Amino acid sequence: MNIAQIFENNRNWIASKLALNNDYFSDLSKGQSPEVLYIGCSDSRVTAEELMGAQPGEVFVHRNIANMVPNTDLNTMSVINFSINHLKVSHIVVCGHYYCGGVKAAMQSADLGILNPWLRNIRDVYRLHKDELHGITNEEEKYKRLVELNVQEQCINVIKTADVQRAYRHHGLQVHGWVF
Ligand code: CO
Repeated sequence: MNIAQIFENNRNWIASKLALNNDYFSDLSKGQSPEVLYIGCSDSRVTAEELMGAQPGEVFVHRNIANMVPNTDLNTMSVINFSINHLKVSHIVVCGHYYCGGVKAAMQSADLGILNPWLRNIRDVYRLHKDELHGITNEEEKYKRLVELNVQEQCINVIKTADVQRAYRHHGLQVHGWVF
């Protein structure tokens, strides 16, 4: 996919939206009130809006390598804070995916430079669940299970935040763990 093609696609997309509703973009400019915060992997195959059938304005999206929610990550924590306190979302989704390159990398002992501290968080998930994981002899099944356990642990990280706990008590905010 080249850059010229992207701009061509964009012009076609704008035209298709305006053909259905001439006020489409002026309506969008009035503001957003999404019901859902989606936290997923940056992987190009896991297209957040497309896999949910979501339209512009419906889902607030945060993506990073391996859909992580580190407690000290200012980016992720700011997204959670903003989506709860300003957008008033009712649901937070953490969506992992099988065959995640980030999870695969964390299962290896290689030195990956700047990625090391990021992958450390996944290696901690492995350590927390090592008894279960060591019991899985099939490497592919172990890899898939770590993807699932990582989603579970990142959901716990979401639930640990004061913003989420306050929103749960106030209006029953729900947290969902998914694997694509
Ligand atoms: Co991934």
